[in-house]
Amino acid sequence: MSTFTAPKGTYDLLPPTSAIFLAVREAISAPARRAGYGYIETPVFEDVKLFSRGVGESTDIVTKEMYNLTTRGGDELALRPEGTASVLRAALQANLHKQGNLPVKLWYSGNYYRYERMQKGRYRQFSQVGAEAIGAEDPALDAELIILADDAFRALGLSDYSLLLNSLGDKQCRPVYRAALVEFLAGLDLDEETRRRAAINPLRVLDDKREAVQAQLVDAPKLRDHLCEDCKAYDEKVRELLTLAGVPFTDDPKLVRGLDYYTRTTFEFVHHRLGAQSAIGGGGRYDGLSEMIGGPALPSVGWALGVDRTYLALEAEGVVLDLPASTAVYAVALSEEAKTVLFAKAVELRRLGVATDLAFGVKGIKNAMKSADRSGARFAVIAGDRDLAEGVVQLKDMESGEQTPVALEALVTTLKEKQL
Ligand code: HAM
Repeated sequence: MSTFTAPKGTYDLLPPTSAIFLAVREAISAPARRAGYGYIETPVFEDVKLFSRGVGESTDIVTKEMYNLTTRGGDELALRPEGTASVLRAALQANLHKQGNLPVKLWYSGNYYRYERMQKGRYRQFSQVGAEAIGAEDPALDAELIILADDAFRALGLSDYSLLLNSLGDKQCRPVYRAALVEFLAGLDLDEETRRRAAINPLRVLDDKREAVQAQLVDAPKLRDHLCEDCKAYDEKVRELLTLAGVPFTDDPKLVRGLDYYTRTTFEFVHHRLGAQSAIGGGGRYDGLSEMIGGPALPSVGWALGVDRTYLALEAEGVVLDLPASTAVYAVALSEEAKTVLFAKAVELRRLGVATDLAFGVKGIKNAMKSADRSGARFAVIAGDRDLAEGVVQLKDMESGEQTPVALEALVTTLKEKQL
């Protein structure tokens, strides 16, 4: 143990679990990659104003959870709490929206930072895979993204989750609803801080988790009853396409999400066995975000799926991913000379694409065979001076335990033929 431990709210990813994380990232991005989304990477820190303007001044993320930093040069930066604002900033900066047909479809994978109260499934550094479709207003695009996320979870083997769906309206109908909600909230018994939040974004109050607040919200006006004809038709089309694709959803009129940029379609995937931190992914349409960060009007939609929570969901459902063994062949040398020969063979096998490991350091054969076992290798290659004198090595099938001599010259082709 060293004097240091990982900072609060973070954890180290170690083998063998780390291999599952890699597989989860691969699996949940695969549907988007198959649907024309191109890979994007952006810096882990940005101008703090990108997030305060984009994510919203009334959100917990901006008011309480940002990792702000001032550089030696005096720039005010923040570690990214989410990916959407950065991806849109990057697309605008590179003029991707002017270079071809819209939408610009992008996917990303990385770590995000929120100074949250640590609990299972809620970390200060967490990992997301996200997808954004920038510059098109088309209910088929909203449906496409939702279906891709659902396909991602199903492909991993998850099933005990629901998709919650809501519409937050647009700049036509939201102000009308907002006014009705403000009037309603004015008659409630709310604390100072909640009132302050409500003044910036009254919808935020609907998301308040405290029972005393929720109890007062039972008769709150519902956005669904205030949607304009355009928003209603848009929402119905999204629903129709989801139904056609066989993706079940549940209406959740209280779903406002923790970020301020959403308009129209919003959704969240919640897993039923994760306790309080049950959202395994979420997203929605953000038609005004581009203008909020100084760009042109670019209606867009996207999602981010939580890798840490997807892992926890797999664990909760007892899903075991079928991962290829990291080592196919394990070499055990019984003498110095044999070590030199097997080392060369290991290099050759690796260059041919066969995952090969070998025993290092001075170990007895017993310990070396234990390592071979632990590596999960299909075959062990064992050789001592006597074998080499006869021009052979011993090839042990680790499943059957059967051991056969193979000519040293034929070792590589023999293993290659087994298509490990
Ligand atoms: P979000 O709902 O804040 O949305 O995060 C998406 C997912 O990231 C959550 O559903 C959850 O699985 C995971 N997540 C969030 N915070 C934590 C945490 N502290 N610990 C562990 N996992 C966490 C966004 O970030 C939006 N940018 C999604 C989006 C993309 N909307 C439009 N495009």
